[in-house]
Amino acid sequence: MRSIIDIVDFSTQELEDLINLANDIIENPQKYAHVCDGKKLATLFFEPSTRTRMSFEAAMYELGGHVISMTDAMSSSAAKGESVADTAKTVSCYADIIAMRHPKEGAALVAANNATIPVINAGDGGHCHPTQTLADLLTIYREKGHFDNLTIGLCGDLKFGRTVHSLINALSRYENIKFVLISPEELKLPSYVKKDLLRANKIPYTQTTDLDKSIPSLDILYMTRVQRERFFNEEDYLRLKDSYILTPDKLAKAKKDLSVMHPLPRVNEISVAIDDDSRACYFKQVLNGKYMRMALILELLREAGTI
Ligand code: NCD
Repeated sequence: MRSIIDIVDFSTQELEDLINLANDIIENPQKYAHVCDGKKLATLFFEPSTRTRMSFEAAMYELGGHVISMTDAMSSSAAKGESVADTAKTVSCYADIIAMRHPKEGAALVAANNATIPVINAGDGGHCHPTQTLADLLTIYREKGHFDNLTIGLCGDLKFGRTVHSLINALSRYENIKFVLISPEELKLPSYVKKDLLRANKIPYTQTTDLDKSIPSLDILYMTRVQRERFFNEEDYLRLKDSYILTPDKLAKAKKDLSVMHPLPRVNEISVAIDDDSRACYFKQVLNGKYMRMALILELLREAGTI
């Protein structure tokens, strides 16, 4: 039974096949409107979410399927002490596929090892978030038309930001990619990501605290929120939370075809004055996330022989 826990679970060819499938869904939605008729997606969210959960649910409805949902861990048996393993076995009796978000790194893997249906990791702690990366890749593809020859600035909380870890993994597979890692000292990219992905693949990168100086060279600027829920103390969060705020002044120094991305939710990182700039791509990412999740659900249910 194939589950998706990490972006490494996809070959580069599979990522490109999913992008092609999502593009076909965008162009021919009626062709896919009944492919999952009668099938059920269970969304198990042990952490807050707007986009990820609702996009999974909208995706399943647009494929003709149904959704059963656990949106609040405190109203489920997790509050009584039930393990993730037992929850996964239980939900396997009711649904055909699971999308799960959990605050603990590795929780989705535990669920996948115990479920009898495919499990999709919708974010596990500060570890990874493969389906956000699918949304990001489709957005980059639709904006730029390719993944090679890009200079990508990643800005904000690179330590706890799971979307950044998964995106680096996916983009490191392409030719002539450069990363500019922009963060406060305390929120630098974890050394395991630098060692296993960047140095291992000989990907050039620079680390800096300076967004202003970095902006002019970038093709993509991926802003992130400081991940309050992963901090040990509130004082550190308050000190770091507004480290970077992208304003029209700053954007004035950027390339005319820069793509400004953000996985959202935005707290303060991008001034709302930028929302109408043609370079703002973050709400396109939201929509693309739904199409990529449609493609992924379809593919996993096909592979499982469910449809
Ligand atoms: C991200 C996440 O949950 O990691 N949100 C999302 O799924 N789009 C980013 C974040 O919460 O900052």
